[in-house]
Amino acid sequence: MRGLLITLEGIEGSGKTTQASLLRDALRSERIPVCLTREPGGSPMAELIRDLILTPREEPLAPESELLLFLAARAQHVARTVRPALERGEVVVCDRFTDATVAYQGGGRTIPEPFLRSLNRWATGGLEPSRTYLIDVPVDVGLARAKGRSGPAGPDRIEAEARGFFEAVRARYLELARQEPERIVVLRGTDPEEALAHQIRDDVHRILSGRTPNVQR
Ligand SMILES: Nc1ncnc2c1ncn2[C@@H]1O[C@H](COP(=O)(O)OP(=O)(O)OP(=O)(O)O)[C@@H](O)[C@H]1O
Ligand SMILES: [Mg+2]
Repeated sequence: MRGLLITLEGIEGSGKTTQASLLRDALRSERIPVCLTREPGGSPMAELIRDLILTPREEPLAPESELLLFLAARAQHVARTVRPALERGEVVVCDRFTDATVAYQGGGRTIPEPFLRSLNRWATGGLEPSRTYLIDVPVDVGLARAKGRSGPAGPDRIEAEARGFFEAVRARYLELARQEPERIVVLRGTDPEEALAHQIRDDVHRILSGRTPNVQR
């Protein structure tokens, strides 16, 4: 495949969406073809599944159902959006991806990691990001930012989790970065937006310039 898959990870309010959109703008202004997408969601069907996962409802969602819905959305997103964009040679910038499953369903919900990894492989057909930016913030900072941003509908189903849940998610994310230091770059999410954007942009340029000319300008 000719394109490049870049993912952004981190707890709620860490700044993923902000950085994903700044990176999209930067690449666009250099006329590098880019596809900005997100999980859960990123295709019409996957966005419907996103709504099932995130909208709080009277009936609680079992952790098993939650996991399988995330994976169903991911399989659809990869098949319909991510792979086609990579085949067109685009840089795909994805707001959350496979690491989120390991961090949230593994760290947060304590589902065994080997099982999650095998589901991820199955749902994505083995597709892995070339680079992942883990935007790390203390839980208090992330939750305060997310609260400031959530609309009149209040927190979504995941945002309504207890603080300990997010501590476990953050810890698992950092563990993943220690396991895969080549792929996962940890960024200090309390730095100013522009400084973070700069680091990400520089790193993406390094990747693009080190490659055979897959991504055509
Ligand atoms: N580096 C930063 N410093 C200060 N505030 C920031 C920074 N990055 C983002 N913010 C602010 O924090 C809030 C959350 O940012 P953003 O929506 O990008 O986070 P997110 O990781 O996408 O959150 P979620 O997981 O809930 O979607 C926004 O109001 C944004 O303007
Ligand atoms: Mg976001």
